Amino acid sequence: MPIDMNEVTFKVFRFDPEKDKKPHWQRYRVALRPGLSVLEGLLDILDHQDGSLAFRFSCRGAVCGICAMYIAGTPRLACRTQVAELKREEITIAPLPGLPIIKDLVVDMKPFFAKYEQIRPYFLADAVPGEKESLQTPQQRRALAEYIDCFLCGLCHAACPVAATDRRYLGPAALVKAYRFIADSRDGHTDARLALALGEDGLWRCHTIFNCVEVCPRGVDPTHAIQEMKRLAVWRRLAGKTRP
Ligand code: F3S
Repeated sequence: MPIDMNEVTFKVFRFDPEKDKKPHWQRYRVALRPGLSVLEGLLDILDHQDGSLAFRFSCRGAVCGICAMYIAGTPRLACRTQVAELKREEITIAPLPGLPIIKDLVVDMKPFFAKYEQIRPYFLADAVPGEKESLQTPQQRRALAEYIDCFLCGLCHAACPVAATDRRYLGPAALVKAYRFIADSRDGHTDARLALALGEDGLWRCHTIFNCVEVCPRGVDPTHAIQEMKRLAVWRRLAGKTRP
């Protein structure tokens, strides 16, 4: 994008299932200013050009993960994506792929969170002693710090080609959370958790493609978590610790 341009075009996916027979693209001109993010551009459109445009946002500071969208061909957070860094005269903005569209850029996250629920993302009943504190050393806490940081924005899931072609694949976000509890010294239910992650739609469907790592806005490495669980599963099987 030339430096002297004062406007950029947002080419935005539009679809209102209550009115439209099929989706279409709509173009808006947005005035450039230093530090303009894609989210701020969308808010400009909403405030000054088209109040019917639907999209989600909340914190505006890459803390909540709600403004996940498909921006210029890559899953990104709109609040964290600087327009100038995209270096384009026209920026395409679409909803996250692979999820039902509610309206425009708003997708239904239910299928995503249903996968998250499958891995039982909480301490299992007898894992935490009732009345005592469950202490951890700094080293034990560090082992899961990265995975706690995942805020379930869904970008990794949207970037994974396996998840795109196999709707039942648990996907990187759910698997990261499975590993978050396996890596937690207070949980102690490794076999049960591995069994949840090892099903037909789980760990072994990952082809180690790394797209999930590239798009994560929190620096989480889902591929590492998945590979660690594969290693653990094989090791425990060889050691006779899991059912065949
Ligand atoms: Fe998908 Fe990441 Fe595996 S992109 S295939 S979950 S390494």
